[in-house]
Amino acid sequence: MPRISVTVDGIRYDEEVEPRLLLVHLLRDRLGKTGTPIGCDTSNCGACTVLLDGRSVKSCSVLAVQADGGDVVTIEGLATGGTWHPMQKAFHEEHALQCGYCTPGMIMAAIDLLHDDPDPSEEAVREGLEGNLCRCTGYCTIVRAVRRGAREMSQEMPREGMATP
Ligand code: FES
Ligand code: FES
Repeated sequence: MPRISVTVDGIRYDEEVEPRLLLVHLLRDRLGKTGTPIGCDTSNCGACTVLLDGRSVKSCSVLAVQADGGDVVTIEGLATGGTWHPMQKAFHEEHALQCGYCTPGMIMAAIDLLHDDPDPSEEAVREGLEGNLCRCTGYCTIVRAVRRGAREMSQEMPREGMATP
């Protein structure tokens, strides 16, 4: 079996993996990162979104071997020293979740969205998150949270720090 080396939430793991193993199953079943949920397993819902080398990916559509040598950040690696990431705080403050199933993926996708557009309009947020589905909120609070998170990130984090939140 192939052997891979991957950094997840700041910790390096060396793992033997089957070539067909999906990144989401490596994260959840081998590394215990159950904060990354599986919604559909068919690349449709975005619940499983994580950052791979700073960009968002649906981890059910990436093979673990494709992450070899990569740097993965999950929702569990966003807070630092017990302090929420500004985007996590914004989702909390805007009440941008109900069941919460979509929330980890929404937050990771939102952070990536800001790489290209640090101050997105409502329309840009809706377009940027179109690959992430929510069955509960109706999206209005999510859009508000992303724009609030963007404002807070621009105040709290230097631009260059956004590549690896
Ligand atoms: S579980 Fe990956 S997109 Fe739905
Ligand atoms: S809060 Fe329930 S799916 Fe989004």
